[in-house]
Amino acid sequence: MTAENAVRAASIVAALLFILSLAGLSRHETAKAGNAFGIAGMAIALAATIGLASRRSSATGIALIVVAMVIGAAIGIWRARRVEMTGMPELIAVLHSFVGLAAVLVGWNGYLSVEARGGEQTEVAGALLRIHSAEVFIGVFIGGVTLTGSIVAFGKLSGRIRSNPLMLPGRTLLNLTALAAFAVLTVLFVLRPGRGLLIAVTVLALALGWHLVASIGGGDMPVVVSMLNSYSGWAAAASGFLLDNDLLIVTGALVGSSGAYLSYIMCRAMNRSFLSVIAGGFGNEGGAAVDRDYGDHSEISPEDAATLLLDADSVVITPGYGMAVAQAQYPVAELTRKLREHGVTVRFGIHPVAGRLPGHMNVLLAEAKLPYDIVLEMDEINDDFPDTSVVLVIGANDTVNPAAIDDPGSPIAGMPVLHVWEAEHVIVFKRSMSTGYAGVQNPLFFRDNTTMLFGDAKERVEDILRAL
Ligand code: TAP
Repeated sequence: MTAENAVRAASIVAALLFILSLAGLSRHETAKAGNAFGIAGMAIALAATIGLASRRSSATGIALIVVAMVIGAAIGIWRARRVEMTGMPELIAVLHSFVGLAAVLVGWNGYLSVEARGGEQTEVAGALLRIHSAEVFIGVFIGGVTLTGSIVAFGKLSGRIRSNPLMLPGRTLLNLTALAAFAVLTVLFVLRPGRGLLIAVTVLALALGWHLVASIGGGDMPVVVSMLNSYSGWAAAASGFLLDNDLLIVTGALVGSSGAYLSYIMCRAMNRSFLSVIAGGFGNEGGAAVDRDYGDHSEISPEDAATLLLDADSVVITPGYGMAVAQAQYPVAELTRKLREHGVTVRFGIHPVAGRLPGHMNVLLAEAKLPYDIVLEMDEINDDFPDTSVVLVIGANDTVNPAAIDDPGSPIAGMPVLHVWEAEHVIVFKRSMSTGYAGVQNPLFFRDNTTMLFGDAKERVEDILRAL
């Protein structure tokens, strides 16, 4: 077998491992195996790429690649070990921006080494040259949009940029004009490749990426994260064409299409159409519902909560972002164990966008070793609330807001939510009466069957454990 064939075979094995990895990651039980497949695939992919590079470049070139990889791996390990679970979406957004930047650089490199050298003098000529020019141009465009879009997403998620949508007049028209300009520039570049056109598309893509994400409101950020995930995949696939790397094309397409599908699932979970997310404006902080007077709320002590729980037949726990902040999953798991020992049925209801990243709550509950079969999706548990004695809302807010159903004027109107208020008693764990991520007040807190248990969720659950 020649070296080229060995590399090709390794690429096929790596691609299969990536597909197995995605399949594994779709279920709790197989997630660990999925991760292992992904790591193995990536190790083979790296070995194959370096093997291929060693046949094409000098010893200095290889040494430079190895040095860059060691530095990159060191920074990656350092960041991954330090990041809090709550900081994951920001980290992911930053990583997407690197993929975008890489695609822009690969595109420019492709132009400088082929078109800028007169094309015909290189081995890429005739129709192939046209295809190459299209690859360069499209790669730079997708990469540029991903780069600035991800930087703005990082800023919004980490609170460095206000999460309010930027409402420029005629913003949809601006986006459409940018897309039309891209189409025209692509045709011009394919006919007559030139530096000026490439600079123009780079600037256009950077501006479009920035504007696209800046005009999306806080409430739609989950969709934006998965949308940028998809863009970064397509950017990588475009780089794969330019670098003649089949594996990068396959991997990019896998990331691109799974990101697109995840965006679709998230849109469905929030009852939003993909186009209306792009058009922006949702999740405007300080929406109409904030100023309304909902009346008084009542409070409960941890001791009374413990009594209520011991008397209950069935308890449902709906966790949200606050459980992640408080790291309350361990005492929550302990509480679950104690109540189950006492004969109480305990289950979890997970909203698809609870927390700050897809599957956030599932990861936390798995970390605390809760059995998978009592962790249910929103659709699986929503009909059971009328037969539930007590619901514990632990650090959740937007995902249990009845205004999404009752109030057509609410900024989150139409978003499917967990119907916790239909239970006999609802106990809400949070530190104050402040709003959740979308910035809208929650009428649930003022209902007759709701009581508030103020304070850090972890400390309050531990108080209940002591009282039990
Ligand atoms: P949120 O609406 O974000 O509310 C979380 C609540 O937790 C807050 O009201 C906060 O109230 C409370 N909290 C914070 N720290 C706490 C602590 N230490 N102890 C107790 N409570 C604490 O939560 P959610 O219901 O999970 O909804 C998620 C929101 O994030 C949705 O709007 C969703 O669209 C958005 N989002 C989701 C994602 C993904 S992919 N899941 C990504 C980005 C954005 P206090 O400050 O009063 O304590």
